[in-house]
Amino acid sequence: MKGIILAGGVGSRLHPITQGVSKQLLPIYDKPMIYYPLSVLMLADIREILIITTPEDQQAFIRLLGDGSQWGIKLSYIVQLKPEGIAHALILGKIFVGRDDVCLVLGDNVFYGTGLIPLLKNAVFEVTENRKACIFGYYVNDPERYGVAQFNQEGDVISIEEKPQNPKSKYAVVGLYFYPNDAVQKVGNITSSVRGELEITSLNQLYLDEKRLILQKMGRGFAWLDTGTHESLMEAGSFIQTIEKRQGLKVACLEEIAFKKHWISVTKLDEAIQHYGNNVYGDYLKQLENDISYKYVL
Ligand code: G1P
Repeated sequence: MKGIILAGGVGSRLHPITQGVSKQLLPIYDKPMIYYPLSVLMLADIREILIITTPEDQQAFIRLLGDGSQWGIKLSYIVQLKPEGIAHALILGKIFVGRDDVCLVLGDNVFYGTGLIPLLKNAVFEVTENRKACIFGYYVNDPERYGVAQFNQEGDVISIEEKPQNPKSKYAVVGLYFYPNDAVQKVGNITSSVRGELEITSLNQLYLDEKRLILQKMGRGFAWLDTGTHESLMEAGSFIQTIEKRQGLKVACLEEIAFKKHWISVTKLDEAIQHYGNNVYGDYLKQLENDISYKYVL
């Protein structure tokens, strides 16, 4: 399975901050925002990843992330000239996806919680073994801001509406989507919405019509954090700070994930330690190398 991270967009709600720098490069406490969705793809064992950016910001992403070999993954880049919707990523990424299945993740979505790995593994299983699309629902206070799922008595999803005025539930569809390869063809059958975008909700609806859509709920012990407003950006940073400080474990440390998955050797980890020197990130990596219990905490 391949992965696509959507890191384009103008981030107008955060102007003037995002006038000079891409939103997905802003810090969430101690890491750039894009590290968080990238870590989710890595935890799903996805190692070939396409990053979609604006033309102006592409170089900055390449400077930060490079070709991914430092984490044992393969990164490539493509530009999106203007915001055309999440589903448009499948058009831009058609050649990259090829005959593989694909996972899309929004570059500004942060996920955290026990049970994330089994949830991801199950999504990969539904796609690869059952040829179903798999999305996730999260109970929120303000569902009208999102794609919203409606359920029947049995708890199966029966509709998804994009930013409804009268939401039929409080379950928002999060920015993480797993699709079988035929999504690349299906996206050709959807038309732009009133906001002029190819909506991911329209693609999900096509899978729902074919009874090929699975929605897994992320429970209340889970954090799906918003980074769309100044306030929520601060809150996401505080959340990560709180959990990292308490445990002394980092969320979305890409070297840690790669090392624990044996995608990089001790030599590569040493290179990263040298690179970061004696800053807090480098100290964390050093501790990781020395910590023999590392096998048990991913
Ligand atoms: C998009 C999707 C929406 C989804 C949300 C998750 O909204 O259209 O269905 O719930 O991402 O972040 P947008 O960010 O375009 O407002």
